[in-house]
Amino acid sequence: MKYTENIDLASVREAYSGAEGRLWELIMGEQIHIGGFVSSMELAGKAGIGKGMEGVDFCSCNGAGMRFLVRYCGVESMTGVDATNVVINQCRERCSEEGLADKISCVKADVCDSRLPSDSKDFVWGEDAWCYVKDKVRLISEATRIVRQGGVIAFTDWIEGANGLTDAEAERFMQFMKFPNIQDMEGYKELLSAGGCVVKCAEDTGRFGPYVDLYLESVSKQKTYDVLKILGYNRELMAAVAEEMKFMQELAHAGKIAQGLFVAEKL
Ligand SMILES: C[S@@+](CC[C@H](N)C(=O)[O-])C[C@H]1O[C@@H](n2cnc3c(N)ncnc32)[C@H](O)[C@@H]1O
Repeated sequence: MKYTENIDLASVREAYSGAEGRLWELIMGEQIHIGGFVSSMELAGKAGIGKGMEGVDFCSCNGAGMRFLVRYCGVESMTGVDATNVVINQCRERCSEEGLADKISCVKADVCDSRLPSDSKDFVWGEDAWCYVKDKVRLISEATRIVRQGGVIAFTDWIEGANGLTDAEAERFMQFMKFPNIQDMEGYKELLSAGGCVVKCAEDTGRFGPYVDLYLESVSKQKTYDVLKILGYNRELMAAVAEEMKFMQELAHAGKIAQGLFVAEKL
């Protein structure tokens, strides 16, 4: 795992309370993760998530992942845990607007200390967000604590790819993304095993490179004005953000970063 300094939960909250969060939603859609609906379907399928189950979404943001699970997988109820007020309010508003407030609730907490009851849920879910969490050991142990025996931890996340990052590449990438560290495939497998789980699935989805291509194309060809609006109509700032996105694109195509998909069962 690679680390950087000076990124903490306050930095992440600030990002998701303002322009940065809005920018990611504009680029990726309401589901702020690589692959959107397709990725969620794949993860739910591999994790065996289905009718009548009760789950928790760690880093639930505006709640799109939970609405997806209720609508398309027959999940009975979801509890979202997120540390940012702005997105929790969005989640509650959108769930009410869509008539899903009776099935979906949100709590404001650090996912490392959710205060949800132990052994209470069928699954813990996460999509491209655990990269923001500093203490990965506590994160995984909190997820395994909440899940009942035989329950599942299912998540995708931005990880270091098989070809590895240099220290300088990791530093630039993590500072841009506001990640305090970046885990790798083996690191997550070890944490899940140490937390009392059997790892059923740990793989690179192969989506990162082509999806960054898609985001950059859409920003340069169609959404330029909308991005400028979010960035205060500042073209220099937009050029600087585009530079970092292109750097990320190179890392992804070089296999140095990846979207990892993990499914583990609690023994
Ligand atoms: C990329 S968004 C999540 C996207 C969402 N999973 C989806 O697929 O639409 C990242 C979210 O993680 C939340 N977050 C980051 N660190 C957190 C922590 N330690 N505890 C709780 N929430 C956290 C942020 O507030 C933000 O809403």
